[in-house]
Amino acid sequence: MAVSRAFAGAKLETLLLSNAAAAASSSSSAQIGISCKPARAGRRAPARRGGCAIRCEVAASDVLVGVNSASSSSLSAIEQLKTSAADRYTKERSSIVVIGLSIHTTPVEMREKLAIPEAEWPRAIGELCGLNHIEEAAVLSTCNRMEIYVVALSQHRGVKEVTEWMSKTSGIPVSELCQHRFLLYNKDATQHIFEVSAGLDSLVLGEGQILAQVKQVVKVGQGVVGFGRNISGLFKHAITVGKRVRTETNIAAGAVSVSSAAVELALMKLPRTSHPTARMLVVGAGKMGKLVIKHLVAKGCTKVVVVNRSEERVAAIREDLKDIEIVYKPLKEMLTCAAEADVVFTSTASDTLLFLKENVMDLPPVGLDVGGLRLFIDISVPRNVGSCVSDLETARVYNVDDLKEVVAANKEDRIRKALEAQTIIAEESKQFEAWRDSLETVPTIKKLRAYAERIRLAELDKCLSKMGDDISKKTKRAVDDLSRGIVNKLLHGPMQHLRCDGSDSRTLSETLENMHALNRMFSLETEISVLEQKIRAKVEQNQK
Ligand SMILES: NC(=O)c1ccc[n+]([C@@H]2O[C@H](COP(=O)([O-])OP(=O)(O)OC[C@H]3O[C@@H](n4cnc5c(N)ncnc54)[C@H](OP(=O)(O)O)[C@@H]3O)[C@@H](O)[C@H]2O)c1
Repeated sequence: MAVSRAFAGAKLETLLLSNAAAAASSSSSAQIGISCKPARAGRRAPARRGGCAIRCEVAASDVLVGVNSASSSSLSAIEQLKTSAADRYTKERSSIVVIGLSIHTTPVEMREKLAIPEAEWPRAIGELCGLNHIEEAAVLSTCNRMEIYVVALSQHRGVKEVTEWMSKTSGIPVSELCQHRFLLYNKDATQHIFEVSAGLDSLVLGEGQILAQVKQVVKVGQGVVGFGRNISGLFKHAITVGKRVRTETNIAAGAVSVSSAAVELALMKLPRTSHPTARMLVVGAGKMGKLVIKHLVAKGCTKVVVVNRSEERVAAIREDLKDIEIVYKPLKEMLTCAAEADVVFTSTASDTLLFLKENVMDLPPVGLDVGGLRLFIDISVPRNVGSCVSDLETARVYNVDDLKEVVAANKEDRIRKALEAQTIIAEESKQFEAWRDSLETVPTIKKLRAYAERIRLAELDKCLSKMGDDISKKTKRAVDDLSRGIVNKLLHGPMQHLRCDGSDSRTLSETLENMHALNRMFSLETEISVLEQKIRAKVEQNQK
């Protein structure tokens, strides 16, 4: 019970903080980044990168010298990296940020406006990366959530730009988005996508569709400029986590899905005596439609009418599910079929409503044996059935948010399963962070190369001017090659010591120590930051 209360508290905290975040970001021009993810079991308190804390971004001039100071020399390189994060990351490293609106914070009425169909993900990534402070992006748009993952050159500005972009694409005012959105940074963003992929953040805990959807993000993102190294690394790692949690814990054991919860809800609403005889109609024969039929079979249903645009998919379902009579009807016969059904499940990708109040009010009423109400169970996002249908005395509509009623039943089971998965998630988060930390040396590599190249060019210039104008092209090239050769040979050693894949924390620590040493030796910290260069380049590009 104590655990249960802690969870409830965490959810409440999420809501409170997300409202605070909304208020802060909409009313203040101060650069405040707010992470509003609840503190969970095993999660450390604020003050670290991406902690559940409110913090102000510091201006580059305010940056402390923590990394190189003598006082911090007793800390390990990894500790230095982490303790100095607040300053260094605003100056040196981009942040992973998730700007999300999920079933836990946002009603379906809003989520459906934000939904982006799969075919448009590449375009959305392109638009997001066109924003001044966004380097990489991914879109996770499902019936439970609309989450934008970005690598932002500035957290505050990145969040602002993405929120404005979401407002523009959905037509929802920024102030309203801010009331519902949650923001997570770096470690918390990583942990979140790992939990999402494991099915821990789903309405129906442990459901498997979300892992397929995360895989789809990677598949669609392949080759899309902007689905870059960090974001694709994050999503690929999330797939590993999702698979591990499913195979190494009990999370999937007896797990329900949105479609099974939909069937469950329909049965809860129907009188028990009518279960064997209620007339079932399924509109949409995609993945969800098929799963609905499968669960109807599991509940003893022997006949179903399936309405779909094309017959092929229905024929394929018939091939797979032999224990039920499946009658196919084309979309134009949908209303006639609804007239002869007691329960109508809708699960299509249509972006317009298929059932309006005026269509449903003309349908003949259903019998009292099924409760006198025609049930519409709509699991589509955007929705397929107008909410006004529920105004009629003869019908009731339930959408994906109403499935909460079904899943609330096994809350204790949910918490137990979630705890099992957290160990794996914590382990994998550490690994991903180590991989990201290993990328930390990239700016030093670039700056060291640039520094050496500047010296080479200056010395080459001096040498060539001493040699006079009458030297041959061949000689010039030989001198140029000589200078390059010397620089490359000299840099080879340091470069080797700046590379590591992050899989071994001892090597990573050494690599980061080497990085700090090189930064000190060559005063690379005073070089213009890579991040700053990137921002300048993007702003200039967008001004053209
Ligand atoms: N996948 C999930 O995990 C999941 C979970 C919960 C809810 N949902 C929601 O369920 C709905 C269906 O998802 P899905 O995964 O089953 O998609 P899907 O496999 O892509 O199937 C899409 C279905 O929608 C039909 N369709 C597409 N456009 C239509 C239109 N304009 N008018 C009428 N029918 C149309 C398709 O008909 P054809 O066969 O003729 O193309 C197909 O039957 C979506 O709204 C989704 O948000 C999905």
